[in-house]
Amino acid sequence: MAAAEPLIEVKGLKVHFHTEDGVALAVDGVDFSIAPERTLGVVGESGCGKSVTARAIMGLIEPPGRIEQGEILLHGPDGIVDIAGLDPRGAEIRDIRGTEIAMIFQEPMTSLNPVFKIGDQIVEAILLHENLSRSQARERAIDLLAAVGIPMPRQRFDHFPHQLSGGMRQRAMIAMAMSCNPRLLIADEPTTALDVTIQAQVLDLMNALRRDFNTAILFITHDLGVIAGMADDVVVMYLGKIVESAPVREIFRHPKHPYTQGLMGSIPSLTDWGARRLTAIEGVVPSPFAHAQGCGFAPRCPHAMEVCRRRSPDLLKVGPGHTAACFLHQAAP
Ligand SMILES: Nc1ncnc2c1ncn2[C@@H]1O[C@H](COP(=O)(O)OP(=O)(O)OP(=O)(O)O)[C@@H](O)[C@H]1O
Ligand code: SF4
Ligand SMILES: [Mg+2]
Repeated sequence: MAAAEPLIEVKGLKVHFHTEDGVALAVDGVDFSIAPERTLGVVGESGCGKSVTARAIMGLIEPPGRIEQGEILLHGPDGIVDIAGLDPRGAEIRDIRGTEIAMIFQEPMTSLNPVFKIGDQIVEAILLHENLSRSQARERAIDLLAAVGIPMPRQRFDHFPHQLSGGMRQRAMIAMAMSCNPRLLIADEPTTALDVTIQAQVLDLMNALRRDFNTAILFITHDLGVIAGMADDVVVMYLGKIVESAPVREIFRHPKHPYTQGLMGSIPSLTDWGARRLTAIEGVVPSPFAHAQGCGFAPRCPHAMEVCRRRSPDLLKVGPGHTAACFLHQAAP
């Protein structure tokens, strides 16, 4: 992945959930880094550990979840902080969340409070980390509402979340996230709940913000089509692991892992848009409670070999900036 000094480095991250039903290996040894101002797309089916990875970076893993191993290194002007080592309830991580890293969620009501006006919520977010008067913060909030394309922002300031459409709410949440001018914005399936037209508008908006604010983005989606328009680099997650990573053009031209190839096969073409969903890969993601031996994709893989059921392939280099975890691309162990 192209990078001089990374903004964030995730190294050997393992996040497990210790429940009555056993231990879920939700994130099971993940490595990636994001350089300043770059967008990393994270793609994979439901349950593969995308959101848990994002929450770990935000310091939001709650019991029964636990960061079991690994580092999340945030590089800043004053040095490097390991987010994985911070007290999840401490001041330091709260400070990072307020000023360095912001997150937008699939469902805007996760971060918008239904009983407060949207403008006031943005003002509070601004006042948390900036030394402004309330009236200055109010002007800033109105500017932000305008920047995310909300018409008549002065009037909208006084609206409650339920008075906005889904797309508007998403924009308001983006405005709130951008209010701290974060160096890293995590977008967890920010457009999945929206219809196709509004989805395209919100994606355009995010691309524009990325240019204007020089923000790095971790963009999570189950839709490779969306990744194509947003990301510089891509990691593909399957069952808590990264199975392939490459620059975006490379992965679309030369997908190496059978899982990535399966996801590619399920991108709707222009002629049957909406008619097909992610059903081209037969079967389902195995349970993270199962701890099955071998390659996690073996039960669904059309190329599975005997070795695949015994050994788990490492993520190894298969091309420039391109890695894949598959025995088809490495000498048999
Ligand atoms: N609070 C929890 N308790 C137990 N297991 C959990 C908890 N949260 C997540 N998990 C486990 O972690 C795994 C990964 O979840 P995660 O939310 O990261 O998936 P995802 O890739 O974001 O999926 P989706 O596309 O559906 O959002 C899930 O299979 C789930 O079993
Ligand atoms: S390691 Fe084997 S089972 Fe896993 S993806 Fe490659 S060929 Fe398929
Ligand atoms: Mg998720």
